[in-house]
Amino acid sequence: MKGGNDWWRHAVVYQVYPRSFADSDGDGMGDIPGLISRLDYLADLGVDAIWVSPYYTSPLHDGGYDVADYRSIDTRLGTMDDVDALIAQAHARDIRILMDIVPNHTSSEHPWFRELLASEPGSPAWDRYVVREGTGPGRETPPNNWRSVFHGRGWSHVRTADGQPTGYWYLHLFDTTQPDLNWDNAEVHAEFRAILAFWFDRGIDGFRIDVAHGLVKEAGLPDFDYPATDTETPAMFDEDVAHAPFWDQDGVHAIYREWRAVADTYDPPRIFCGETWVPNAARMARYQRPDELHTSFNFIYLEAGWDAARMRTSIDETIANHAQVGAPPTWVLSNHDVVRHRTRMAPLDVDGTRDLDRGLRRARAATLFTLSLPGSMYIYQGEELGLPEVVDLPDAARQDPAWHRSGGTDGTRDGCRVPIPWSGDVASYGFGTGAASWLPQPADWAGLSVDAERGSTGSTLELYREALRIRRDAPSLGEGPLAWLDSADNVLAIRRSAPAGDVISVINLTDAVLHLPHAWGTEVLVASSEDVAVLTTGDDVALAIGPETAVWLGATS
Ligand code: NOJ
Ligand code: MG
Repeated sequence: MKGGNDWWRHAVVYQVYPRSFADSDGDGMGDIPGLISRLDYLADLGVDAIWVSPYYTSPLHDGGYDVADYRSIDTRLGTMDDVDALIAQAHARDIRILMDIVPNHTSSEHPWFRELLASEPGSPAWDRYVVREGTGPGRETPPNNWRSVFHGRGWSHVRTADGQPTGYWYLHLFDTTQPDLNWDNAEVHAEFRAILAFWFDRGIDGFRIDVAHGLVKEAGLPDFDYPATDTETPAMFDEDVAHAPFWDQDGVHAIYREWRAVADTYDPPRIFCGETWVPNAARMARYQRPDELHTSFNFIYLEAGWDAARMRTSIDETIANHAQVGAPPTWVLSNHDVVRHRTRMAPLDVDGTRDLDRGLRRARAATLFTLSLPGSMYIYQGEELGLPEVVDLPDAARQDPAWHRSGGTDGTRDGCRVPIPWSGDVASYGFGTGAASWLPQPADWAGLSVDAERGSTGSTLELYREALRIRRDAPSLGEGPLAWLDSADNVLAIRRSAPAGDVISVINLTDAVLHLPHAWGTEVLVASSEDVAVLTTGDDVALAIGPETAVWLGATS
């Protein structure tokens, strides 16, 4: 396959949230045959790989991140034959495929948790999960003060078959239906190594690791001194909360060394990308040491938002820390857990609503600039169409457990999971065979469908296609050195060099026109907006780019 064994060092990876991508059977839920039927679209878009969020057997209390069987496929999403076909068909198009592994917790419907419930305290089945006796009278107080990321307390009673509390509690950093596994247990280690091998043997190219920074808990499970500002819930990525006794413990690294050893026995070697919400680039790069994970998501850059200084700091720190461990950085602006970057970057109007036109303008510029950074890039389905976050979902439609556990105050995750529009004027816009979609789509998405944007000059889809095409062919993009060029405030400019020719990438985050130095030339490879003009002053020919615009320029070294 294209790219050789180092493909992941510079890949553009497209995240598929399978329930929301394409629905082949009209039940309103995307599925694997639907995904297969759209692989040509992904090949045409020009991605190197896809990461598919979980499709294992699951009660879907957390969108499949609650796995009841790691070796079978949820019947609503497809069959094992479908997955084999997906792997073969993706590979036939030179697209690698990453699955999603969820090792921090299982579903409460996993046979292991059922076995725990059916056996006596202290039996071996209990040791696979984090279970402790309660404290106080009747052992009615949880073992410590840890909270769930999805709000409320992080412990629930282990109950008898008839629903009586036993005095024992199980830990769930997420939903009550997601009991945390005990990574001090050898059987847990062995089982996950076997699951990895099971899927590697079927031909997948690697895994994205869910909550990769969370598996190991500090010995003794001490109370956590929650920051005073954090009134309700420990966001996984708050600077303070990142030091919690359940995140980023040194012990997790031993697990990834074990996993790396499994991946390295394959030819070609399989790869990992960790979901690591950690407070800084130095902690992050520890996961990319040569005998651990190949890459991790760089959420620090995602959180920099539309802010030149923060972007630049994050880029510098990321590159410096990754260089120390010999790993390529990754970049990501959207995924299925965060507000889509078109909406996130949109400035607030006076009336408090977001200006989504400017949000799109900014998102396009940010994406284009990010695609010129060294390393690999993750894009989330629908961002290539310029989809906004859906902020007005009816409460009854919402499925995010965080929404329900927070009493309707934390509503950020369903809005980026609305099924994507493919064609036509009315819902489900070609997502399925009829109108049904598990989350309702907005009435005004016809203009954002793949069919509407494909071939349409200036569309976001065409911008992504063009940028990916240029990136694929330009030896200076992807891995390699980055040099900052002098630029005005709120402008970032970099030079990416290769003997075959350099690329200069500039993003103007100001709301004024920016005149570029004439030394940078006028060879525009691609621009995020139409506002790019060649100005001639005397003998001087130079470019001017509009506000909130990014460009790539061809340059000589
Ligand atoms: C991170 C996943 O991306 C998110 O969707 C999920 O809810 C949590 N991990 C828990 O598995
Ligand atoms: Mg379906």
